[in-house]
Amino acid sequence: MMQKPKVFVTRMIPEEGLTKVIDICDACIWPEEFPPDRASLIEHSRDVAGILCLITDIIDAGVMDAAGPSLKIISNYAVGFDNIDIKAATDRDILVGNTPGVLTGSTADLAFTLLAAAARRIGEGIDYIRAGHWHTFKPRALLGRDIHGATLGIIGMGRIGIEMARRAAGFGMNIIYYDHRMRPERGTDVDARMCTSVDELLETADFITLHVPLTPDTKHLIDVAAFKKMKKTAVLINTSRGPIVESDALYEALHSGDIAYAALDVTDPEPLPADHKLLGLPNCLIVPHIGSATVMTRNRMAVMAAENLIAGVSGRMPDHLVNPEVLPYHHEKS
Ligand code: GLV
Repeated sequence: MMQKPKVFVTRMIPEEGLTKVIDICDACIWPEEFPPDRASLIEHSRDVAGILCLITDIIDAGVMDAAGPSLKIISNYAVGFDNIDIKAATDRDILVGNTPGVLTGSTADLAFTLLAAAARRIGEGIDYIRAGHWHTFKPRALLGRDIHGATLGIIGMGRIGIEMARRAAGFGMNIIYYDHRMRPERGTDVDARMCTSVDELLETADFITLHVPLTPDTKHLIDVAAFKKMKKTAVLINTSRGPIVESDALYEALHSGDIAYAALDVTDPEPLPADHKLLGLPNCLIVPHIGSATVMTRNRMAVMAAENLIAGVSGRMPDHLVNPEVLPYHHEKS
């Protein structure tokens, strides 16, 4: 019998994905609740044909070199892949897979949920009751902002940005967007108008939602200057990656009233320590990176990441490949 390819899976992903991996591969599965530290990641990656990893695992040239020439694929259990050094992988003819599409709807659902929760101050309302303050109906307490009729500014009109626009259209919002690839056709179906600059969007929108990947170009896209351009009543929603927003600038903007509210699924740092200053702000709502966290979506991600891994270790092209420029070389390698 042919030997099964050796792989390292860095966490217990949902069963449907794990079963597929175990069927085909000789899999070492990290059993802990927390990610492997760097030394363990390196140790368990030695001589493997594939690594199935999470966004909490930094996969750089050092890890790839520790794995050695046997490594054919790094399969990320995520659509974003800023935790992986793609150039280092491509230079070493290593394929990188991700999980696009399956989490689009769930992430847009959460982004819109955060928008609505911030607009209507839901977190504060819950705290208010728990603190024993609900003694009567108050005409002036906990007044929020209307969603219908407000303008939503979407930065990044990719798959998730478009789904966010669909949800906003259903709530009667006006929609504008900025897309660095300048794709005016992206707004057609949802009646969204493209802005020609980020500044135009920042100045115009009542709600601003971020749907760009983290790259050197998007890091700190929302900085002190960006907050100054926003309306004082603006609400910022981030379900993309924490470092796209400069954390100290966000704190100052919320604290000083330069903007009204923020609702975040991602932070910098991440995880956010329980004593972080952002958590002390009444106008900042934070949830712990749960954009894709539904039973169905996490199962689909597990299956997709497993299938990408299996394709890669079997010398086949994964369905969802981040660095297709590797392919011509990969066939020689396998
Ligand atoms: C989660 O953050 C993902 O990129 O899938």
